[in-house]
Amino acid sequence: MLEITARVWEGTDYLPHVLDRWLADPNATLEVAELDGVVVGFQRLRPITQRIVLYEGLRVAEEHRRRGVARAMLRHALEEGSGQGFGEMRLITGNPAACGLFDAEGFHRLVHCQVWLAGRVEGVDLPRLVAADEAAALFARLRADPAYDAYGRVNAHWQDVSDLDEELLGRLAEEGLVRASGGGRALALLEPRPHNRLAASLVAGSGAALQDLLMGLRFEADSQGYEGVRLFAPVPHPASDDFAEVGYHLADGQVQRYAYARELTG
Ligand SMILES: CC(C)(COP(=O)(O)OP(=O)(O)OC[C@H]1O[C@@H](n2cnc3c(N)ncnc32)[C@H](O)[C@@H]1OP(=O)(O)O)[C@@H](O)C(=O)NCCC(=O)NCCS
Repeated sequence: MLEITARVWEGTDYLPHVLDRWLADPNATLEVAELDGVVVGFQRLRPITQRIVLYEGLRVAEEHRRRGVARAMLRHALEEGSGQGFGEMRLITGNPAACGLFDAEGFHRLVHCQVWLAGRVEGVDLPRLVAADEAAALFARLRADPAYDAYGRVNAHWQDVSDLDEELLGRLAEEGLVRASGGGRALALLEPRPHNRLAASLVAGSGAALQDLLMGLRFEADSQGYEGVRLFAPVPHPASDDFAEVGYHLADGQVQRYAYARELTG
């Protein structure tokens, strides 16, 4: 299986780092496809709620591609998911070529996020850390913000394509991953363990509150030793003018995110 991942994304695939954990995880289903006794592909199904199962880790060996292996595996996963009683399957991919497969197999796109980058800046006005007991009030604001629909009402990052709701905000706040400004008028959801840049999977709000928050993230990146900030924003994001105002630019050549969902019938 490691051989299959070695050539994915120029060797930067995250899978080799998680494979041991995946193999040992009793809560998810890891499936392999074999041809003549050789493993040519794999995929995983992992529940993210009682109703929703995440489809992840789809990989097909380079020499066996474009012969329908992924399509057959995905169809099997759909059967498996509905057989296990799930009502919906979600997934996120960074590969635009794979979108043709998901479109054709009945998924609808929740969101396509592009990447915005900004460098770190020295400064003391760090963004405010949100506490878990603020989740209800923050969610009420978020739900009224155009960004809520623009993000497809989900938090699109690799580990889970969860519903944007009060429970999620509370959970992320407990982990210290929610930032706000302007009395909650602007909001950012940070990603755990980012690589070289502080990363936000979602930013909402607009105007001065959002600009303060985005500047604050650049200060926070500096204070934590990151080279800058990476934002994931839907195409289009309702407040992208504010991004540019405070030094963020749309980046070429970065892995974008496409999140999908599909109903499962029992
Ligand atoms: C994406 C991937 C899983 C496809 O596997 P595969 O077995 O070659 O896919 P299939 O032959 O079943 O193709 C199914 C459909 O996917 C789309 N597709 C697959 N590869 C494509 C490519 N290189 N360019 C454009 N479309 C492509 C097409 O719509 C295709 O249907 P078609 O052949 O009728 O046009 C494989 O290329 C891979 O492992 N890539 C690296 C990892 C990755 O990107 N995983 C995606 C999910 S995270």
